[in-house]
Parts: sequence; structure tokens; C-alpha cells
Amino acid sequence: MSICTLAAWHNAAATPYGRHRVAPATRGQEQRAGMDGLWRTSRWLRYYDWDWSTAPWPEVERPQADHRAGLLPRRFAYHVLRVVRRAADGDPSAHADDLALQFADHNETLTAILEGFREPRPASHVLKIDGLATTSSSTQALRAFAQLRDLGLVVPAEQDEPADEGAIYLAASILYGIHQTEADSIEAMQIVRECEPRTFMEIGTAHGGSLFCWAQVAHPEACLISLDLPGGRWGGGYAPEQVPHFQQFLHPGQQLASVLGNSRSPAAVEHVRELLAGRKLDVLFIDGDHTYEGAKDDFENYSPHVRPGGLVLLHDIFEGVTGGDPTVEVHRLWRELTDTHECHTIDGPDHPTFGVVRM
Ligand SMILES: C[S@@+](CC[C@H](N)C(=O)[O-])C[C@H]1O[C@@H](n2cnc3c(N)ncnc32)[C@H](O)[C@@H]1O
Repeated sequence: MSICTLAAWHNAAATPYGRHRVAPATRGQEQRAGMDGLWRTSRWLRYYDWDWSTAPWPEVERPQADHRAGLLPRRFAYHVLRVVRRAADGDPSAHADDLALQFADHNETLTAILEGFREPRPASHVLKIDGLATTSSSTQALRAFAQLRDLGLVVPAEQDEPADEGAIYLAASILYGIHQTEADSIEAMQIVRECEPRTFMEIGTAHGGSLFCWAQVAHPEACLISLDLPGGRWGGGYAPEQVPHFQQFLHPGQQLASVLGNSRSPAAVEHVRELLAGRKLDVLFIDGDHTYEGAKDDFENYSPHVRPGGLVLLHDIFEGVTGGDPTVEVHRLWRELTDTHECHTIDGPDHPTFGVVRM
């Protein structure tokens, strides 16, 4: 993608980035305005570095891995997707994936700048514009910097911005796969974010999409526990080798403990108890065994770890949610909980999807 194309695109993306927005940069002096202080590549690009081309996800079939590798040649697509999503929101004719592909097309100037700002640095340092910015290459660098800044891909070092839920969902679904739909996941993330959980547990992680979402909105120093049964029903779980992949998407101060086993087994219950070592959970998400007995056991075994006022979220609370599998009966548990607890639902496109219980 040429810088020119990016410039056009930047106009669509600029509105959501109001706080980074400055007058469009066109020429030397103007371009240098708004460059004071230290800048760095957005944390979205710094920490979500994943080389799909050399290390594809074990369970992702080749075409999908290739697609991802093609989409992410510089491995910064996570944030790019976030930006693209916002750009597409501003332009109904724009298709987010196409925009992402265009953007991900190699552009040496853009990527050199993004690499250069991995650590906080003055713009002049990275752009090498201490002298007069008259050559075409420095003019190009200035323009590229201004565009990356306006897109939120290079941010003031002290202002690393929080993630937004829409982009988190998009990234989770493209990068990992997620069993939930968009609007309700976004609402669930907002609820969890408000809770600022420092301790979070998920039963049923599958490919990691929902865990990815929770990690983004949990407290940056949260301890997260993922409990899943390798080969388990309704998703297949994950293998121990995948844990390092999940570690990649944590905030740097977060920790993840993975418990692989049947959530209903005494061993798993004990393992979680040991991990918590008396700490209470702020949020528990139950999305594992979807039978009535399984979901009920999960609630009874793990909700006592949730602090008073903390939340238990259950997924698939609607009867008939999984296309008529009669063994899925989370709705029965949900009905019981609504009689005994303070509960509310989060609605998907057609019916309630998440149930939220306040303990
Ligand atoms: C619907 S998937 C979870 C989807 C994930 N939360 C997401 O949104 O991307 C259900 C997961 O629960 C796991 N599971 C099923 N029965 C389980 C059990 N008894 N104990 C632990 N995990 C179980 C499966 O292995 C599967 O990965």
C-alpha cells in the first residue's frame, strides 16, 4: 500500500482518534508540529507479536494459517485490525479485511518507523530529521509518521491507549476463533472491564478467543486461570503446547495459569483451590461442560471462590442455543439461578446469550 493510499484512508480513521488528531500533515514544518516528546509504537503492536508464517497455530488448517500470515506480514495486524475496524465503521463501503490486507502490504517506511519506536524515542531520533527535512525520503518519513500517529499506531509514550472491545472481538475471532457473537461479547467485555478483575477464571477456553478478550479487559496485573479439558466436547480444548501462545497475548504484568482436566474432577477443583491460595476471584466465566449437571457442578465447585459482589458469567443460557443438541442444558441452571441470585442477561442478535450473576 502506498503512503498516498494510507493518507486517504487515514481521513476515515481519524475521527475515532480525536485525541491524537492534529492538522493533516503535508509539508515539512507543518509535519513537524505535534511531534514533541517521546513516542512509541502502540502497545497493540509491541506485545501481540506473532509470526503465523513460521509458527502457525497447531490446529489451524494450512489455508487459514496462510491467510493469517498473508494478512500479518509485519505481525502488527492486531492493532491494524483495530484501526481498520474503526476506519470501516466510518465508511460503510469499506470492508475491514480488504483494508487490513491493503495496509499489511509491505511498506518499508512504515515498518521501519514502527520498529524504530519499539522503545520510547523522540520522533526526530527515529525519523532522522534533525537536519532540515528537505529530501524526499525525510518528507516521506514525516508523512508516514504523521499518518501512523493519527491512526494511533504510534502514540505518545505516556499515553498508551486502552483497547476497545469491538477491535478485541475482531482480533479474537480472526486470530484465535471465538464461540461467541459480537455484540454480546462486546457487552460482556464492557461488564468485565468495569469490574477491573485482578483474578479471573475461565472454564472452557477452546482455541483461546474468549480468553484473549478477557485478558485484554482485565486488570493489567490480573492473574488469569484457564481450565479446559483437552479433547472436551463443544470445542475440543487445547494442548499444553498452546499455553505459550496464550501467554503472548497477556498484558506484560498479567499471569496465566492453565489447568488441563475435567472441571468436575476433584483433581481440578483442588488444583484451582491451590492456585488461588485463599485469594478470591473477581470474575468467573463458565463455558465448559454444557450439560445441566456439568454447568451446575462448575457453578457449585467454583462460584464459592468468587468474592461477594464479584461476577459469574455463563454462556449459552438460551434453550436450544446450539442447534438442538438436547444435552446442552445450561438454560436449566440459569433458570434456577435467577430464582436465587441477582441476575441479568446479555442479549445476542436473536436471544440472550450470556447470563451474569452477581455473587
Ligand atoms: C464452547 S467451548 C469454549 C469456547 C470459548 N470460551 C470461546 O468462547 O472461544 C467449550 C470448551 O469447554 C471444554 N470442556 C467441555 N467439557 C469440559 C469439562 N468437563 N471440563 C473442562 N472443560 C470442558 C471443551 O474442551 C471446550 O474447549
